[in-house]
Amino acid sequence: MTGQGTARSPPAEPAATAPAVPCFYRVISRREDTSDTVTLELTEPARPSHLIPAFAPGQFAMLTAFGVGEVPISVSGLGDNGGGRARRLEHTLRAVGAVTRALHAAQPGSLIGVRGPFGTSWDVTSAAGRDIVIVAGGIGLAPLRSVVLTALADRPSYGRIVLLVGARTPDDLLYAGELERWRRDGVEVAVTVDRADTGWSGAVGLVTALIEPARLAPGNSVAFVCGPDIMMRFTADALAARGIPVHRIRVSLERNMRCGAGWCGHCQLGPLLVCRDGPVVGYDRAAALMRVREL
Ligand SMILES: Cc1cc2nc3c(=O)[nH]c(=O)nc-3n(C[C@H](O)[C@H](O)[C@H](O)COP(=O)(O)OP(=O)(O)OC[C@H]3O[C@@H](n4cnc5c(N)ncnc54)[C@H](O)[C@@H]3O)c2cc1C
Ligand code: FES
Repeated sequence: MTGQGTARSPPAEPAATAPAVPCFYRVISRREDTSDTVTLELTEPARPSHLIPAFAPGQFAMLTAFGVGEVPISVSGLGDNGGGRARRLEHTLRAVGAVTRALHAAQPGSLIGVRGPFGTSWDVTSAAGRDIVIVAGGIGLAPLRSVVLTALADRPSYGRIVLLVGARTPDDLLYAGELERWRRDGVEVAVTVDRADTGWSGAVGLVTALIEPARLAPGNSVAFVCGPDIMMRFTADALAARGIPVHRIRVSLERNMRCGAGWCGHCQLGPLLVCRDGPVVGYDRAAALMRVREL
């Protein structure tokens, strides 16, 4: 042995991305937001099999509950994008079926599969210099939380930040503590519920009823809307009727997905593959498509 060829080469950097293969992220915190909704904080493993690139607000991951299945879930926070990769992720998810119930039950320490980032972003920074109008219905506030956090992180770059929130009941209201903090930070927050109990002194009714009292400046506003399809349609139509140009109204579309990466065609909506060309789409493109029913 001469020693030649025995020098160790540095460990190879894992591949930048492998969109078909989940990387195992660990749950580091779990916060119960409501009876059926949790916010999970995930961290990149110490030795990732491959690197998951940084997520932008509005993009989504395919999250795997091992042995159960995989579902698309948006990022709800800013996470930690050190070195251009997703070192830490935040997702808020509501338990509605087998996979989301399994993810909802995940405890700190457990492993979840992550693929992504997928889809288009809210492109919040393109709204610099304008008022930001955010309208959320139910779990739709989860992907929009990242819009609020992005705007607050660079507050002087934006005009008014108006946040209009609709929930089924007061108990279903997401991020109640954060809404108070955002109010103190200058976000104009208004909340309405579909059904109230006796302890509720706020508004009752549809989220669209909050638009008029908000006294928007349509010529200088960019709107971000997320919720059930019908809520987004009524909201976007109401905002357009008040004079916000449709190309400055952004909605986040939801369709059933499999690959998340534009390969399988499962999420096709007219000419769009929602996983690739969405989920965030201008209402100028989305309006006609949102009237198409999913098969
Ligand atoms: C791009 C994108 C981003 C998403 N981001 C989020 C997110 O941030 N947080 C989150 O909680 N969800 C999000 N979703 C929705 C989430 O993917 C679905 O709730 C999930 O796929 C349901 O899978 P499941 O196996 O748990 O339930 P399934 O077995 O597929 O569904 C169980 C039952 O729930 C109904 N259902 C399915 N989805 C919903 C829904 N969204 N709301 C109400 N009922 C539903 C079904 O019709 C069925 O009756 C997103 C979806 C997309 C396409
Ligand atoms: S989910 Fe496969 S193409 Fe969109």
